[in-house]
Amino acid sequence: MAVYLARKGALTCALLASTALAAQAEDVEVLHWWTSGGEAAALNVLKDDLQGKGIGWVDMPVAGGGGEAAMTALRARVTAGNPPTAVQMLGFDIVDWAQEGVLGNLDEVATAENWGEVVPDALQAFSKHEDHWIAAPVNVHSTNWVWINKAALDAAGGKAPETWDELIAVLDQMKANGIVPLGHGGQPWQDATIFDALVLAEGTDFYKAAFIDLDPETLGGERMAAAFDRLIVLRGYVDDNFSGRDWNLASAMVINGEAGMQMMGDWAKGEFLKAGKVPGQDFVCIRFPGTQGAVTFNSDQFVMFDVQGEGKKQAQAQMASAIMSPTFQSAFNVVKGSVPARTDVPDADFDDCGKKGMADLAEANTNGTLLGSMAHGHANPAAVKNAIYDVVTGAMNGEYGDGASAAQALADAVAGAQ
Ligand code: BGC
Repeated sequence: MAVYLARKGALTCALLASTALAAQAEDVEVLHWWTSGGEAAALNVLKDDLQGKGIGWVDMPVAGGGGEAAMTALRARVTAGNPPTAVQMLGFDIVDWAQEGVLGNLDEVATAENWGEVVPDALQAFSKHEDHWIAAPVNVHSTNWVWINKAALDAAGGKAPETWDELIAVLDQMKANGIVPLGHGGQPWQDATIFDALVLAEGTDFYKAAFIDLDPETLGGERMAAAFDRLIVLRGYVDDNFSGRDWNLASAMVINGEAGMQMMGDWAKGEFLKAGKVPGQDFVCIRFPGTQGAVTFNSDQFVMFDVQGEGKKQAQAQMASAIMSPTFQSAFNVVKGSVPARTDVPDADFDDCGKKGMADLAEANTNGTLLGSMAHGHANPAAVKNAIYDVVTGAMNGEYGDGASAAQALADAVAGAQ
């Protein structure tokens, strides 16, 4: 009977609702870093969904794009023996916590709802540890996007750039037109987000050898030097006040036409939508020139800690079940700018950028060109990631005379962090 029900999604949900996940659940306390306008709008979709199911929400926001500050706050809570119910987390951070043996177990709900059949393997690699489900993936973001103000692009010739040379030509024209060509915030994770794309533009094999395999010769070699040289070129199109600026303020510069474009993951789209902007009319989304056909991804997952008390455990299972529902995955990701973490969600409700994001993801998954984002913790554990951040940010701030010196520093830094 149990096996039969496990194969029938709807029946299984009814069974779970009436028994295992019944009404005794407590509120969920959720640690996250979704504090920008677009992120908060998406978070509200989640809060409302849970509240509609009778699950109360206790908010624990920790501002800071990319989640580093949130991870520091989390460490303090776990050390104090009081982890939150659920935590937004990325890639290798999940692996690190799993290895510490402090996470809960979502196997019952995951098996009942057949998550294994609809969550792509690239995500399951982080949602599961030693074959047990420990997290529910809410989305798939990707980092190799460029968001362009449409009026600024029209004024710069109207053609979205497809190659590096075309990109530079558009940036030059935007500069000549008197706007900041590249809206950017000088924070290590934002610099690293651009660098994801610059390394990917050298080829998927190159990206893999550099950031996934951490091959010393690739990290310190000529092509890495070329990627750093391009980063140094891009720095020339950023305004002088970029240091420390939050990513959503850089998005706002593009939204209001003060800047021409932003190179950022598709959470930036959430800001454009929140401002009432329409893709194709007010802004244009393209893959970073030279990275078409490939995707560097990151997936926000809600990780469940090993909390005490049956009510809390039930709340975790209920929250995970709600997150994994296909209708929720559509409604949430339409607002967030990301795409669903399940392969069976229709793209009907998504705008053109969202439809492109879903198609690109499926294509990259099939072609073997879907790669974990270095900048967003899906390529390496935090120690290696932070070592890469230091060198990339150093290069963005003129610390190295040229790309070759930066590449050598990168190889040394990664070797030291392993
Ligand atoms: C997360 C996104 C978030 C972005 C900026 C990324 O690491 O995956 O959900 O919107 O950081 O805060």
